[in-house]
Amino acid sequence: VTDPLRVALVGAGRAGLVHGRNLAAGVPGARLVAVADPVPEARQRAAAELGCRLTLADPLTAATDDGVDAVVIASPTFTHAAVAVAALQAGKHILCEKPLASTLDEARRVQAAADGSGGALVMGFMRRFDAGFARAAERIRAGDIGDPVFVRSTGRGPGLPPEWAHDPQRSAGLIAEVNSHDLDTVRWLSSREFQTVYAVGRAAKRPDLAARYPGFVDLVAVTCELSDGGLAQVDGACPAGYGYDARVEVYGTEGVVMAGDALAGSALLVRADGAVTDPVRSWRELFADAYRAEDAHLVRVARGEEEPRAGVADGVAALEAALAVNRSLRDGRPVRVAGEPG
Ligand SMILES: NC(=O)c1ccc[n+]([C@@H]2O[C@H](COP(=O)([O-])OP(=O)(O)OC[C@H]3O[C@@H](n4cnc5c(N)ncnc54)[C@H](O)[C@@H]3O)[C@@H](O)[C@H]2O)c1
Repeated sequence: VTDPLRVALVGAGRAGLVHGRNLAAGVPGARLVAVADPVPEARQRAAAELGCRLTLADPLTAATDDGVDAVVIASPTFTHAAVAVAALQAGKHILCEKPLASTLDEARRVQAAADGSGGALVMGFMRRFDAGFARAAERIRAGDIGDPVFVRSTGRGPGLPPEWAHDPQRSAGLIAEVNSHDLDTVRWLSSREFQTVYAVGRAAKRPDLAARYPGFVDLVAVTCELSDGGLAQVDGACPAGYGYDARVEVYGTEGVVMAGDALAGSALLVRADGAVTDPVRSWRELFADAYRAEDAHLVRVARGEEEPRAGVADGVAALEAALAVNRSLRDGRPVRVAGEPG
């Protein structure tokens, strides 16, 4: 690894620009050297804003270029695996946005490539870098709530994601697009694995999208059995309209710990006609510090100073759970998570 770490951004859309702007503003030890996006306007706009001279139409070129040490993969979910496998085979380090892939076959191919690579893969589970969520994890590890036997995790997005994400074949559905973070939170904070999931879902706000994209839901509720007798509930909604909402509660044998706040960063305004606070408008705002910390972590992982805080196995496990949720939605029954075909 050269100093600074030469980073290529693959996918210059919503998530890509969060990482691109962080890199352009300065992530210690990293330099943005290329932006790859097959859509000319997207890559040119991003390159101009980010002050990056090299733009590439082909993400695989960026993933394998000799002048690149690390790749941030922020392209649509169904394109992650091809880029990740090529980059890992070329020995690059990766920060991969969630979910790892759209099918389990793809995810396992990425895992195999990671196993045989000198490059490391960091999963973009940014809650692991959020001060409040990390404090909850620390409390749980310290034994402050005893055995964490139940996790309840809520994830809601304010507006619809881009159109490709409406199609569960390409995005792995609402549960992967919005609630990958919740699935990871359950495993992370409980130190348990998913065993069975039972999901119900509705296209409560956008039945028109369910008619166009089979399997589309905008509201989902999942009850989960975890290893070692643990339980969890995950619920998701998008578009929620009112803002971005990420909250978790971990109930233990000796207490409860809560993280995430629908009023984060707001102030209470009181006037004669009523009282108001500001909603959290976006994941970009709520987790701004966490995305910066995640980008800085990639540098330390590439230098061998840290192990990925969330790695490829965590990406596979969250996707396995997400795909089991989709099967449960389809079949209307509880589904075993481990070892079933994707
Ligand atoms: N961590 C988070 O909180 C978070 C938030 C939003 C999105 N995401 C994830 O980031 C990824 C991108 O989502 P988004 O909302 O930014 O999507 P987007 O549609 O806004 O952006 C995707 C970009 O990738 C480009 N692209 C299309 N095909 C490509 C390919 N084959 N190779 C490279 N680039 C390609 C598109 O032109 C577009 O500019 C998804 O996997 C999504 O789930 C994560």
